[in-house]
Amino acid sequence: MSRNEKISVLFRKKPIASQSNESGVLKRALGAFDLTTLGVGAIIGTGIFVLTGVAAAKYAGPGLVLSFLLAGIICAFAALCYSEFASTIPASGSAYTYSYTAFGEVIAWILGWDLILEYGFASAAVASGWSGYFQTLLSGFGLELPHALTSAFNPEKGTYFDITAALITLMITFLLTRGVKEAARANGIMVGIKIIVVLIFIGVGVFYVQPANWHPFLPFGFSGVTAGAATVFFAYIGFDAVSTAAEEVKRPQRDLPIGIIASLAVCTVLYIVVSLILTGIVPFNMLNVSDPVAFAFEFVQLNGLSWIVSLGAITGITTVLLVMMYGQTRLLYSMSRDGLLSPVFSKVSGKSQTPAVGSWLAGIIVALFSGFISLGHLAELTNIGTLFAFAVVSIGIIVLRKNNPDLKRGFRVPLVPLIPILSALGCFYLMTRLAALTWITFFGWLIIGLIIYFAYGRHHSHLNPLRRK
Ligand code: ALA
Repeated sequence: MSRNEKISVLFRKKPIASQSNESGVLKRALGAFDLTTLGVGAIIGTGIFVLTGVAAAKYAGPGLVLSFLLAGIICAFAALCYSEFASTIPASGSAYTYSYTAFGEVIAWILGWDLILEYGFASAAVASGWSGYFQTLLSGFGLELPHALTSAFNPEKGTYFDITAALITLMITFLLTRGVKEAARANGIMVGIKIIVVLIFIGVGVFYVQPANWHPFLPFGFSGVTAGAATVFFAYIGFDAVSTAAEEVKRPQRDLPIGIIASLAVCTVLYIVVSLILTGIVPFNMLNVSDPVAFAFEFVQLNGLSWIVSLGAITGITTVLLVMMYGQTRLLYSMSRDGLLSPVFSKVSGKSQTPAVGSWLAGIIVALFSGFISLGHLAELTNIGTLFAFAVVSIGIIVLRKNNPDLKRGFRVPLVPLIPILSALGCFYLMTRLAALTWITFFGWLIIGLIIYFAYGRHHSHLNPLRRK
């Protein structure tokens, strides 16, 4: 093979027609409202219920609301780009599938591999947030776990493994391998409970705000606001999950953009109000706790409500965990179906017809991460992976417009290339606000991924005409 031929193999593209052919197996039952519910279910979780506290105490102070605004604007640009892709290529696999079409195989692999990191660490982070609230609830009944098993590995503090985080991860894996329908049914109810709890917090909390707590507004300056934005960005992750349902949507070209943009809009408004109220009730430097939203009610002696908030937070965070872990198995499934990963991940089995072996493999790894690694690190790793994916998807819009101008698009990003460029720059900027260790881990992960691609995926890809079957 000549050098040019070798390069062109790396950039072989999946034809758009073949993506739509893969659909048709799943029932098209979802409309715009279902998608918005799905989006909100995937978005509101550990980010707002837990990370707001760390971000306010360590970085932004009461200026946290500006962090949410900044991260929200960047996500809105990215959401527009996701919407155009989702309305043009309504196939499952989300950003991975889009880049297979826009950029070719090696970039698709990099993005898919990056998303495995995103979903994996996001699930672990969400489980760790779940564990914080669960332990508060337990202590309300006078029950305490052995200290060594209450939190991630940190010998200085005498903690070694977060047993609750690991166990909830395994329980969700079990639920997912039992069949998606059951899981989806439970999801709808839990999303409702979560929104009611957030509204209770807003409706009651507003009467306990002490405006004096908002001064100084920016105790760590504007750089604190941007570092805070890089952390609370986590709270917005999930709207991209709406696009993974593409093959089950009735009118994907119209409903997907509505679902993505509406769920992001609802959450942005809720986050801005919640962060204002939270920093208004509790002085920001006291917020570095594992359950800040419940703590705020405790702070003003509303213990009963604090308990209800904890219960709602646990329920709400569970839905995020479900969607994230489901997204992970779906992605592994798509990549394996394309031949880039071992067939183990797309082998469906049992009565439930789910890729059980692959799900358990992924679930056990995520459980170990959630047990050993701290929430702060997990969230940063999730953020770097997601920001990278958003940036690539944004640039992909410009490429696809240039290479395939005549494709039918249900939704078009306005002001191309300005908005995609702003989106990509915003994402890269937030990436620069993350810690050096996060960058090193991220690069390490990508290098391992490339080694696997060159050793395995390139040869087994279904686009390889000489593939060994
Ligand atoms: N946005 C999701 C959460 O905050 C990942 O839990």
